[in-house]
Amino acid sequence: MRINMNPNSELVQSVVNVPDLVQVPDQLVSMAHQFQEAMMMYTCAIREVKTKLEVLNDELSVRNQRNPIEMIKSRVKKPISIVEKLHRKGKTISVESMMENLDDIAGIRVICSFVDDIYQVASMLTSQDDITLITIKDYIKNPKPNGYRSYHMIVEIPVFFSNEKRQLRVEVQIRTIAMDFWASLEHQLRYKKDFDGAKEISEELKECAEVIAQTDKKMLSIRQSIADRLI
Ligand code: GTP
Ligand code: MG
Repeated sequence: MRINMNPNSELVQSVVNVPDLVQVPDQLVSMAHQFQEAMMMYTCAIREVKTKLEVLNDELSVRNQRNPIEMIKSRVKKPISIVEKLHRKGKTISVESMMENLDDIAGIRVICSFVDDIYQVASMLTSQDDITLITIKDYIKNPKPNGYRSYHMIVEIPVFFSNEKRQLRVEVQIRTIAMDFWASLEHQLRYKKDFDGAKEISEELKECAEVIAQTDKKMLSIRQSIADRLI
């Protein structure tokens, strides 16, 4: 088979598109198919976890007359980021190695309204008996030094295919709208750090994170006061 060997093109797309033609070894083609299959599996794992979250949101919104989840975003990691991360970790670049060593190929970001919704959603998801909790990183109780806040979990979920059941890992990041606002802007700015006064800017960003955390606390207490008055 012949595929595009342009280093900027993605392997799987290349197999499908076949533009600038060169001879390619069968081994590489087989690896491309294996990769495509793995990515399909991770996409399915995302769908399974997303459905669970949507079910919880529907149920809780009927019960409490408000949505604990504002939005769910998801992505499978880009091939170039997979290769970079395996390289950074000193791991073999192969499909098996990627499935064994990377926990964030499938990623889901859950944006909640209030801080307590985060813990409620996390606990309801992980108490389901087909979900295995692998790790938790609570950057809300323990923010990163730069001010980053979010609740991260790696979970494992079984996905049923035509002739096998696969346990697949998914990274679930849960945060409030305010935490997401900060993280999105900080992510845009983090590539522009090499200049005079970068340290002061980092301090300012951290200050913004503190203000945002205070606002999240205040919004929660306002919600609770309203609820108390309605009783
Ligand atoms: P990685 O090698 O990045 O996966 O590190 P890790 O395995 O220690 O993961 P961690 O749970 O700390 O963070 C994983 C993801 O959280 C990142 O890919 C980002 O999406 C997000 N994240 C972590 N730290 C920051 C941060 O300081 N700023 C922003 N904007 N996002 C962050
Ligand atoms: Mg990670």
